[in-house]
Amino acid sequence: MRLTLLTGTVSGTADMVADAAESRLIEAGVQTTRLSGANVEEFLASAPEAILVVTATTGMGEVPDDLLPLQLELNDRFPLLTGIPFGVIGLGDSSYDDTFCQGGRDMRELLLELQAREALPMLELDASETVNQDEDAEPWVAEFLKALGR
Ligand SMILES: Cc1cc2nc3c(=O)[nH]c(=O)nc-3n(C[C@H](O)[C@H](O)[C@H](O)COP(=O)(O)O)c2cc1C
Repeated sequence: MRLTLLTGTVSGTADMVADAAESRLIEAGVQTTRLSGANVEEFLASAPEAILVVTATTGMGEVPDDLLPLQLELNDRFPLLTGIPFGVIGLGDSSYDDTFCQGGRDMRELLLELQAREALPMLELDASETVNQDEDAEPWVAEFLKALGR
């Protein structure tokens, strides 16, 4: 199975979570293409059979700059991803209240609009509650792999 891993980070925490998830995916024999700062062509060329998004939230509730162009392009071009299983790990901080994990939530909504299929409910990691986001994501990643049949 080919999986495309999309990351969005400002200060590296989402990258750490993505590193840990990528290791687990590779161990499970999933052929993983990791994209950061990609455009829609690069994303589609990765021919995903599954998608994992790991993204922080920044600004006033946006995805970070390394994911924003792809998000905007997917919105504009609207390539259907019918039935492709996906999962989202959102990183945020509950002190931001209304925009908690909004970047991840927006990516989830977008993938659903593109007809992708959520394989496992989104994981939301709260920087007010934990500093071990990578470890905290491990059980979710294991469940996600199960949901992909690995
Ligand atoms: C300038 C700034 C704005 C942020 N805005 C939000 C926000 O709107 N909602 C949210 O849930 N978290 C917000 N956060 C918290 C980050 O998403 C959170 O700390 C995350 O773990 C950072 O991940 P990163 O190291 O991969 O960038 C913000 C953090 C910063 C520094």
